[in-house]
Amino acid sequence: METKIANITEENLTEESVQEILKEAGDIIKAGGLVAFPTETVYGLGGDGLNPDSSRKIYAAKGRPSDNPLIIHICKWEALEEIVEDIPKKAELLAQAFWPGPLTLVLKKADKVPKETTGGLDTVAIRMPDDKVALAFIEAAGGYIAAPSANTSGRPSPTLAKYVYQDLQGKIELILDGGQVCIGLESTIVDLTEEIPMILRPGYVTKEMLEEVIGEVACDKTLMNADSSQAPKAPGMKYKHYAPKGQLTIVSGTEEKVVCYINEQTKKAREAGKTVGVIATDATKPLYQASVVKSAGDRQQEETVAKELYRILREFDDEEIDVIFSESFGTNGIGQAIMNRLLKAAGYHVENV
Ligand code: TXA
Ligand code: MG
Repeated sequence: METKIANITEENLTEESVQEILKEAGDIIKAGGLVAFPTETVYGLGGDGLNPDSSRKIYAAKGRPSDNPLIIHICKWEALEEIVEDIPKKAELLAQAFWPGPLTLVLKKADKVPKETTGGLDTVAIRMPDDKVALAFIEAAGGYIAAPSANTSGRPSPTLAKYVYQDLQGKIELILDGGQVCIGLESTIVDLTEEIPMILRPGYVTKEMLEEVIGEVACDKTLMNADSSQAPKAPGMKYKHYAPKGQLTIVSGTEEKVVCYINEQTKKAREAGKTVGVIATDATKPLYQASVVKSAGDRQQEETVAKELYRILREFDDEEIDVIFSESFGTNGIGQAIMNRLLKAAGYHVENV
């Protein structure tokens, strides 16, 4: 199969040729095919969420285990009523506050949602993305798009269409290229089937933001540490996550000590004939001696780091770097989501200096 790429942005959305592409994308989904599309978090690999065959195809294209459930993306509120058994008050409040946006709600599923989409579970994850292209595509496709991130299983989620193409060319019909995504890390997932709502995956919408709307929110204990005696509650979080080809270590401590430690380790690795890469920030980038130093963004504005992190990790793979050191990030706000993804990528390997 040849994978087609079409440019489609908020700006050109109303043009006739672009409307035709949207229709084509919708028709592909209705016929059981797959289309990758931009969202504000990361690119999604979309299929018809109510068609079990489409979900099977998604798992096959990604190389993903089929007990790892998919998120259904909707474009209007009424669609939620169709696919869940009931809507608890807290779900309504959260949707009002954060949709469209980077928040996924886990609720009891209605019968019409196939178990193929939910990985065999009685619950379903749902989100309304905050991206004009995504919303128009979902509408054109009938309103229920099952979509995991559009990467091969085990690679970082794509923040640019070129990375979708790298992973999925020949496996899907069409990629809607909307340019670089806005946030860069996947949505926050909240399970509302528990007495106390629980965060299963941290993201742009933080615990504090959720608590302002619905009161107490719990956090899955497995999110920020390596203790795997407990199984994570989002099935996807138990799978070995993306690990870069190079050995990644997170270095935590004061700026001065971190820079000093990483430069010492760089020297040692070089003497052993290895190439070294560093994930720095704008302020510290000039201080490192490694051959490849990349700034993830401005430490004072961690959203900038979230946006570039996956791109940087992919670039280190392409550049075949042997050893990677990363600065550590805060555990508040979006920093928690950044650290959650970095810790997984590093296999929880942290040096405190
Ligand atoms: O930002 C995002 O959420 C992106 C964009 C494309 O919307 N999607 C995304 O999907 O990250 P995916 O499939 O890569 O991650 C979905 C996560 C997995 O860890 C999965 O196990 C969990 O959501 N999940 C899905 N349905 C669930 C359910 N019913 N109960 C618990 N966890 C669920
Ligand atoms: Mg994913």
